[in-house]
Amino acid sequence: MARETIEALFEENRRFPPPADFAAGALVNTPAAYAEASGDPRAWWAAQAETLEWRRRWEHVLDWSDAPFARWFTGGTLNVTESCLDRHVRSQPDKVAFFWEGEPGDTRTITYAELHAEVCRFSSALSQLGVRKGDRVAIYMGMVPELPVAMLACARLGAAHTVVFGGFSAEALSDRISDTAATVLVTCDGAWRSGQVVPLKEMADEALEGGTTIQSVVVVQRTGHGAKMSDGRDVWYHDVVADQPDQFPAVECASEDLLYLLYTSGTTAKPKGIVHTCAGYLLGTAVTHRLCFDLKPDDVYWCTADIGWVTGHSFVVYAPLANGATSVIYEGAPQHPDRDRFWAIVERYGVSKLYTAPTAIRTFMKWGRQLPDRHDLSSLRLLATVGEPINPEAWMWYHEVIGGGRCPVVDTWWQTETGQLMIAPLPGLTETKPGSATFPLPGIAADVVDESGRSVPLGRGGYLVITEPWPAMARSLYGDPDRFVETYWSRFSRPEEGRWVYFPGDGAKRDSEGYYWLLGRVDDVMNVSGHRISTMEVESALVDHEAVAEAAVVGRSDDRTGQAIAAFVTLEGDRVGDESLMAQLREHVSKKIGKIARPASIVFTDDLPKTRSGKIMRRLLQDISEKRQLGDVTTLANSDVVHEIAQRAATQQDEN
Ligand code: WTA
Repeated sequence: MARETIEALFEENRRFPPPADFAAGALVNTPAAYAEASGDPRAWWAAQAETLEWRRRWEHVLDWSDAPFARWFTGGTLNVTESCLDRHVRSQPDKVAFFWEGEPGDTRTITYAELHAEVCRFSSALSQLGVRKGDRVAIYMGMVPELPVAMLACARLGAAHTVVFGGFSAEALSDRISDTAATVLVTCDGAWRSGQVVPLKEMADEALEGGTTIQSVVVVQRTGHGAKMSDGRDVWYHDVVADQPDQFPAVECASEDLLYLLYTSGTTAKPKGIVHTCAGYLLGTAVTHRLCFDLKPDDVYWCTADIGWVTGHSFVVYAPLANGATSVIYEGAPQHPDRDRFWAIVERYGVSKLYTAPTAIRTFMKWGRQLPDRHDLSSLRLLATVGEPINPEAWMWYHEVIGGGRCPVVDTWWQTETGQLMIAPLPGLTETKPGSATFPLPGIAADVVDESGRSVPLGRGGYLVITEPWPAMARSLYGDPDRFVETYWSRFSRPEEGRWVYFPGDGAKRDSEGYYWLLGRVDDVMNVSGHRISTMEVESALVDHEAVAEAAVVGRSDDRTGQAIAAFVTLEGDRVGDESLMAQLREHVSKKIGKIARPASIVFTDDLPKTRSGKIMRRLLQDISEKRQLGDVTTLANSDVVHEIAQRAATQQDEN
């Protein structure tokens, strides 16, 4: 994928200055912020921090003495929900926080005053269930208003939440519960997805089988399909909040107290618990949200991401609420009941700022422009994307068909670990180029380096690195600080010189004008529909099946999902690789990890291409999957196997 992207990029010369009227009214339309921030980034972040609600002011902006473990705003105390709720209740209680729309078409409008009251009621309920500051609460829900309520209720108590995406399997949930030792689980009876019930409570029950640290399960009734409740352990959400007060004191937290844990795929099979803390995280997300979305008081903002991913944490929940914005939340699938659901929603609520993913945009392109054309999209003022590199064709389609050619397109590069936006245009200032995330934001120092860590000249590609700490950066990996240092900080840092360089795992190129073009992952992580999935995690799920001896997995480029998972499997003894086994394996991966990790194709083979030292040559498998001329096979111990695999792969069709 990287190779093709590089070639395509060389041809991309179109450029789009901010529309004059947009620039005239924009929050930022001069380069001053870049200059101020680069002169003294810490002072710049500190000035921004005045926009949060503090209990006690910080003493030091940044303590980097224990690098790469950052401590921002030390000495300060706050409760993030006071920035997200209480201060808006004082100044604009009746402003809508969320326009929520269920997949079946039911709707709820929730003001800041109402959201505050509901969060207080649930904080009180959680507190009665024994949740205290520093505890962990697992959340496994669909996109219902009670999901942000549950997160904020934890934050109000100073307890950390760990949200597990509702599309993940029971096993994934139970792994995360055991890693965090969570004591309470909040879930739903079910979630609506494409007109079907996703039986979340049943999966949660399966995750809890055999005993875990969970003592209570709170269940939000959404689908009403008759979920089983277990006596003494399970309680209904509506029962536990029923008689609670609508005020509940927020617990004072230190800037660096844990806010949440969110698990993301690593290059080994074990997911990594990314640690985010209170003050720096809230600041980094709120500031970048305000600047990159040019947020105005009357905006109706819609980020389509599931809250189970970091995009939802940062840009559905924390940043928009800290900024007092009005957001749309939609529960279900974009094709339900028809493929124009997104555009109907934009029209219905008058959405002005839309944030979605390239994979969704490509799907909409495939479905055709007649669907958005049925709707009045004139309320849109800005369009943004996240999750993977956006191909220029999709960028242009988004700009023209959805944005009517008048909306800046803001391509935002960041990750679970960065918490906040890192490389993105400022829409009132930056001239954009389709497919480029443009420049590091004010206060962010990035570079593109070669193998030895030297900055490469403009026009060349290499490894993206971040060279200065930033407020919303991950603080560690939960319970595994060594792996944190090893994964992100070991490759290009020179600790002996006091130089710490963060390596996000992405390749990038800067063009002759210094624009950043992201080139995808350089490690063993695939990006399927904007979701990070580790090759190793899928491999170990496959090998876990009794019929499988060995498996190799690669991400091959795919027009719609960015990458698709291609698996190569050798079987035990006399097992036969037929259609039925293929279906079983896909089901098995689905059960171990979740539907999103199911291989799009499985090729059975007698052997995998290996070097003489026994390392699987994934690059060759990738060449085969992408139907490229095969590279050098002379270093292989078993070179004839590649041609056999190539032949089998050529006769395969994808499944979805
Ligand atoms: C990729 C999602 C190019 C990248 C916020 C990164 C992108 C990973 C972009 C993080 C973008 C995200 N352009 N690539 N605008 N946004 N990525 O942790 O490979 O789920 O490292 O966070 O997605 O995925 P994550």
